[in-house]
Amino acid sequence: MHKTTRKTRSINMQVHSEKLFGSEDVITDFVIDRDVLLGKISKISEADNLADLRNRVITTSEFIHDYISNENDIRSSYPPDNPIRIKANTLFDNLNQILNTQTRERAIYYLDRLKKSYSEVKTSQYSDINLNRWKEYPDILTDSLWVMDKRDNSGVHTAGYWGNFIPQIPYQLITRYTKEGEWVLDTFAGCGTTLIEAQRLGRNCIGFELQPDVIKKAKGNVASEPNGYDTISKLYEGDSTEIDYETALEKAGTDSVQMVIMHPPYFDIIKFSEDKRDLSNADSIEAFLDKIDVITAKSEEVLDKGRFLALVIGDKYEGGEWIPLGFLSMERIRNRGYTLKSIIVKNFEETTGKRNQKELWRYRALVGGFYIFKHEYIFIFQKG
Ligand SMILES: C[S@@+](CC[C@H](N)C(=O)[O-])C[C@H]1O[C@@H](n2cnc3c(N)ncnc32)[C@H](O)[C@@H]1O
Repeated sequence: MHKTTRKTRSINMQVHSEKLFGSEDVITDFVIDRDVLLGKISKISEADNLADLRNRVITTSEFIHDYISNENDIRSSYPPDNPIRIKANTLFDNLNQILNTQTRERAIYYLDRLKKSYSEVKTSQYSDINLNRWKEYPDILTDSLWVMDKRDNSGVHTAGYWGNFIPQIPYQLITRYTKEGEWVLDTFAGCGTTLIEAQRLGRNCIGFELQPDVIKKAKGNVASEPNGYDTISKLYEGDSTEIDYETALEKAGTDSVQMVIMHPPYFDIIKFSEDKRDLSNADSIEAFLDKIDVITAKSEEVLDKGRFLALVIGDKYEGGEWIPLGFLSMERIRNRGYTLKSIIVKNFEETTGKRNQKELWRYRALVGGFYIFKHEYIFIFQKG
């Protein structure tokens, strides 16, 4: 637990722009008894004028501060019989907002909202994100531009498999679009990045991958990842255009999934194998798109209504022409009746090979009148 910084609190009733304990310094979570916390917030609401209310905000903030830093062993007086985990910076931000409010009525409105956030859980039908505490998820992205400079290399995640996506992609998608205990289907599992993230987040996951040696490695990765939620993670070898998903899911222990993640080869940019069934060996772009079509149709049969499919894909450049593989694939999925919810543009760092040829590519771009790929897409679709 980080120690909070106590700041001078000489309160000026005319100008309320000060900050309580500098919320920017408080980056800790703490556990407290829910009734104790709600009782303290209710006490603030009982003030019958703004000056008293502000003083009560300060007293409560001092109490929280002392509780976090366990001043004089204060925590032993408040055992958390009904524990709730609190993000200190969000709580202090809310208290600051109330302290700086100009009318008692507005302050009461904020206090009621604060109480509700700690007493009621509000989620969407497809996510565990508590919308009453939405400020507590700063890591969950809501903008359509994702700039991710560092790969999450924690645990068994590695950059070792050429063409895998960074774990932050499935982390974001699974957190936004599934609930704990639900099922994710990955039709191009690769080295198991989605399965590892699903397992970490308490979601079950079933993945398919064409290459036996890659599947073997993925299985090893998933098995060595701690499974704190006791989830089911199943990896099967096979061609995603041919799989009987219903039977496979039944074997894994479910009859439907709540999210589909598709991260296919970007046509032939990276040749994943010599296998003719591999999408990176498709005869033409049309043939590649037809396969995307087939996999979408097959996975759609096991995806629950109202749930989401994410397609992660980049474009390609060939014969002096930019081939919008992403948009072409997107259109195939839209034509199946899916609603397009978002197009996310994610930065794309060079593979090791390209990095060494950076200067050469820059020269080629200047000569050829094109721009070097620096992005890929994540298309989000909802099944109607
Ligand atoms: C872009 S990679 C996916 C990487 C994965 N997201 C990860 O993080 O490891 C595409 C994968 O699809 C596999 N693949 C290609 N064609 C396939 C097919 N017809 N059925 C199943 N897997 C296929 C390739 O072997 C490759 O591992």
